[in-house]
Order: sequence, then C-alpha cells, then structure tokens
Amino acid sequence: MILSIESSCDDSSIAITRIDDYKILFHQKISQDLEHSNYGGVVPEIASRLHAVMLPKILCNLRDKNIDFGDIAGIAVTNEPGLSVSLIEGVMMAKALHLSLKAPLLNINHLKGHIYSLFLEKESIFPLAILLLSGGHTLIIEAYSYNDIRIIAGTLDDSFGEAFDKVAKMLSLSYPGGPIIESRAKNGKDNITFPIPLIHNKDLAFSFSGLKNAVRLFLQDKKLNDNLIDDICFAFQKSAISHIIKKSKIYLESSAKNIKYFGVVGGASANMVLRENLISLCNDYNKEILFAPLEFCSDNAAMIGRCAIEAYKLKQFIDMNDLDISPKSRF
Ligand code: KG4
Ligand code: ZN
Repeated sequence: MILSIESSCDDSSIAITRIDDYKILFHQKISQDLEHSNYGGVVPEIASRLHAVMLPKILCNLRDKNIDFGDIAGIAVTNEPGLSVSLIEGVMMAKALHLSLKAPLLNINHLKGHIYSLFLEKESIFPLAILLLSGGHTLIIEAYSYNDIRIIAGTLDDSFGEAFDKVAKMLSLSYPGGPIIESRAKNGKDNITFPIPLIHNKDLAFSFSGLKNAVRLFLQDKKLNDNLIDDICFAFQKSAISHIIKKSKIYLESSAKNIKYFGVVGGASANMVLRENLISLCNDYNKEILFAPLEFCSDNAAMIGRCAIEAYKLKQFIDMNDLDISPKSRF
C-alpha cells in the first residue's frame, strides 16, 4: 500500500491506495474554505497552521480504520508546486512517517497528481492531451508516459480558477469563487457582455486579467443587487469558458492529431457548463474526453497516491535529505 499526503494549498488530505489494483482503501480530506472565506483567497499563514492540526487528525482517523501500517510500502507526498508554508507541513509529516515506518519516500508533483485523478482505481492511458484548470494553473499538457509530460500552453497572467475567485471577491461572494459563481450564473440572464480574452490572437496562450478588469470596471458605477450579481456571474462565466473553448479548439486544430484522449483535470474541471462545452468540442474533433470523478477534481491525496504507484513501480524513491519543496515545477 501507498500512504499519500497532499497539503500544497488549503486542503489537508491523506489516502491509502493498494498497489496491485489501485483501490483506494482510505481517503480523507479536510478543506479550509471557511477559514479563508473572509479574506477572499488563501492566507498562507492560516493554511500552514491548519495543516499542522488537520494532517495529524486525519492520521489518527486512519489509525482507527484497521489499516496495518506494516503493509505500507511507500510514503508519497506532494512537494511541488504549491505554497511553501503549506507544502512543508506534508513533507515533514512524510519524513516523520518514513523514519518511523521505514518505508521509502516518493516525491510527487501536484500537477502530475491532477493528471492521475483521471485514473483512480484504474489503469492509465497514454498518450493523452490534458487541460488542467485549477486555482494556480491553466495549462494544456501532453502526456506520453509517467516520465514524459510536456507543457504546451499556459496562462500569461491569472489562472482560470483564480479569476473566478477574484471576481467572487469583487462581488462579495464566498471563497472559493468557482462553485458559487457557477451556481449564481444558473439564475443569471444573458444581458451583459464581457470581452472574450485574446479573441483575435491565434497564439496558444490563456489570459484572464483583462476579463477580470472588465468586471471591475463594469462594477464601478453599479449598485449591486441579487439579480445583477447573478447576471454578472453568468456573463463572466460565459466569457471565461468561451476563452477556454476557443483556445482548446486552436490546440485541437493545430496539433494532437494522433492523440485520441483529451483529459480535463483540476478543481475547476468540476464546472458543469465548462464540461458540456468541452464534451461538444471533443465530439467535433473526434476525441474521447476524460474527467475525474467530481469529488476528486479538487486537491486530494487519492490522486497523489495513484500517481505515486507509478513512481513506486519505477523505483523513483527519494532520499530523505534530498526531499525538498521546490519553487519550480519539475515533471
Ligand atoms: O485544483 P484545486 O482544488 O486547487 C489548486 O490546485 O489550485 O482548484 C481550486 C480552484 C479554485 O480557484 C476554485 O474557485 C476553482 O478551482 N473551482 C471552480 C469550480 N470549482 C472549483 N472554478 C469554476 N467553476 C467551478 N465549479
Ligand atoms: Zn490542485
């Protein structure tokens, strides 16, 4: 079994995954949404302190689940990319467990973990094109194997999820912004138009700061009420998703000719309007679309555990003294 730990942002999570058949034997996650909600975004200091309390709490719950710690063959932990003060909490717990259980350490890249959320409790499929939409990243990736993962496109400024979080903050809605904007947009009317980012630009790159600013400018002379908030959420979500669809279309037209699968991962991949639009796009381009189960789209240790099974099979262990938290993301 692999014991995996995720603490890169504001979710504390631990999982136990069976190596032979990838079965998730235990998974728990404690989110900190409430604690960060007042600030409209993650406060690193608070996140770090909460991980220090929540990770041991989950470990205690695991102890009560009749899991034989002697069967743990590897300790996996997210060590990049993420908030350094958050990552460090998981990494230190992994080192402590490594010393006490004598199981080898596996360092897992958080983004690679999101890719493996597509393959929970099943075999992986390669090659694969991936759209990764989270709070920290907006990427198009091509994955050819566990060790051959290439970034094709990224964002010039804010990420997709971050834009939802910032617009939600402007509207005095709660954090994280994605789910609340999606839900408010359902009641919104299509009567406001925000620009679609980089609409006349054929480059494969994303940008959300212009759209975010358009919302800010629109709000300047407005008195907010519930109906107006719903309409703004509708219009913002429509532009943000149109941007993703237009750029994904450019990607599918220009490359990926021999890649059959198109995976969509990251916390924001839970957005249903986005999913519907991407399903229709993939139909047009004859691609098979893959999503992670809804509860595993946002950060979780199960995807880290699934990813770590590949590292374990390849014997990509790391010495305790070399296990650091990296400011860069290395695939
Ligand atoms: O992957 P994730 O849990 O954490 C990071 O690695 O960043 O993604 C969290 C992000 C947040 O920005 C959140 O607002 C966004 O995903 N998100 C959504 C939705 N659900 C979560 N964005 C748009 N629509 C959603 N339904
Ligand atoms: Zn994430």
